Parts: sequence; structure tokens; C-alpha cells
Amino acid sequence: MASFSQRPQRWLVQVCRHRSCDRGGSEQVLAAFRQHQSSTILVTESECMGQCSAGPTVQVMPGNTWYCRVTAADVPRIVEQHLQGGELVRDRLHPRFHPPNPHA
Ligand code: FES
Repeated sequence: MASFSQRPQRWLVQVCRHRSCDRGGSEQVLAAFRQHQSSTILVTESECMGQCSAGPTVQVMPGNTWYCRVTAADVPRIVEQHLQGGELVRDRLHPRFHPPNPHA
């Protein structure tokens, strides 16, 4: 049986480039992520992901992590903390998909 490592071999980062997210600066967010594109981080743009009021929207797979109101300045943190360190960037998590833990 194949072994399963905690961290994926490859991340997929999708950045919404549809209207609302674009107005919020998703072009700069996409450009910032593309600077970190590598053999383990694949960056792509997407159509509307249905979270327009909280854009720019970024989805990270595997793990189905949704980030909201992402700015280009947040990107190094998401790359280092999440994609390299395996820890979510909590203050950018979309509350619809990642409700705050009331006991935290
Ligand atoms: S425009 Fe980005 S989620 Fe809808």
C-alpha cells in the first residue's frame, strides 16, 4: 500500500479573476502567487467561485481551503505559512467555509 504523507506533493492555488474579485485587486493577487509558482505550487486563475462579496477569493487544494479578501501583501504569508509550513492563515479564512471555533 502506498504511504500517505501529511503534506501533498503538489498544491493548486486558484485565484478568482471575475468581476468583483478583479475590482478588489485579484490581478495583483494572482501575479503575487505566480511569483511562487514551482514544481509543487501550481497557480491558476478561475471564473467566479460564488463568493463575490468577500473577494478577492482564493481556493487552495487539496484541503479545500478558502481564503477571502486576499491582498497581494497576504500572498507571501499564505505561501510560507500554509503551502510550505502546513498551517492555515486564520485571519484570511473565509468564515462561510471555515466558521470560527467558539472555543478557541
Ligand atoms: S467574482 Fe470572485 S467569487 Fe465571484
